[in-house]
Amino acid sequence: MLQLPKVIGHRGAMAYAPENTLTSFREARRRGASWVEIDVKLTADGVPILMHDPSFKRTTGVDRLVAETRSAELPADVPTFEQAIACFRELGLGCNVEIKPCEGREVETTRRTVATLRRCWPASLPPPLLSSFKRASLVAAQEAAPEFARAILLREIEQNWRERSEEVGAVGVNTDGSKLTAARAAEIKKAGYALAVYTINDGDVAKALVAIGADCVITDVPDVILAALN
Ligand code: G3P
Ligand code: MG
Repeated sequence: MLQLPKVIGHRGAMAYAPENTLTSFREARRRGASWVEIDVKLTADGVPILMHDPSFKRTTGVDRLVAETRSAELPADVPTFEQAIACFRELGLGCNVEIKPCEGREVETTRRTVATLRRCWPASLPPPLLSSFKRASLVAAQEAAPEFARAILLREIEQNWRERSEEVGAVGVNTDGSKLTAARAAEIKKAGYALAVYTINDGDVAKALVAIGADCVITDVPDVILAALN
C-alpha cells in the first residue's frame, strides 16, 4: 500500500507563509513537515508552475490569468515546478503534487507535470503522489506515467467512490476531512486504499480522523498537527 506521512503541509505551511512558495516549503520543513502538498498549473507557454487559482490576483496582487501569462512574465515569488523540486531536494521534502489544471488543459497539465517529474525528481526523495479533482488529469497520468502513484481528490465521498478510484487506477483517496464519516473511512481502508484528509488545522479533529482510519492529515499548520498526533 502507498505509504504516506502522518502529516502533509498544505501549499507548504500556508498559515505561516505565502502559499505555494519556496518560503512556505522552508517554513513547513522548519515546523516538522516531511512532505508538502502543492498545486500545479501551466503557463501560456506550457511551463508547470505553482499556483492554486486560475488568476495570480489573490496571492500576488497581479491581475492576470495563469493560462495567459508566459513563464518569463511570472509574478515575483511564483516558483516553477522545477524550482520547487530543487527546493524539495535541498530540504529533503516529499510531495503530494495536486494537478490543478486551468479549464481545458487537464491532459496537457498532467503530461508536462509528469515529464518534469521524470526529468527532475531526485532519487533521494520518496516518490511523489499525484492527485487531482479532475478525472481527465488522472487518466492522463495513468497513461503517460503509470509509475507515479495516484490519489483521487473528492470533496465528498459518494456512493461511487470506488468505481471512480478504479477507473483511474488510484491507490489513495484524498478527501475533505470535515465531511468524512467513520463508515466511509472504514470502507476505504477495508478496500486497501491510503486515506488522506484535508484541510485540518485543529489537533483534536486530526486525532479523531486518524482514529477512524485517516493515514495522513493535510494541514496549514504542520507543527500543531504533528504535536497533536505524536
Ligand atoms: O490536495 C488537498 C487540497 O489542497 C485540495 O483542495 O483547493 O486546497 O487545492 P485545494
Ligand atoms: Mg491543493
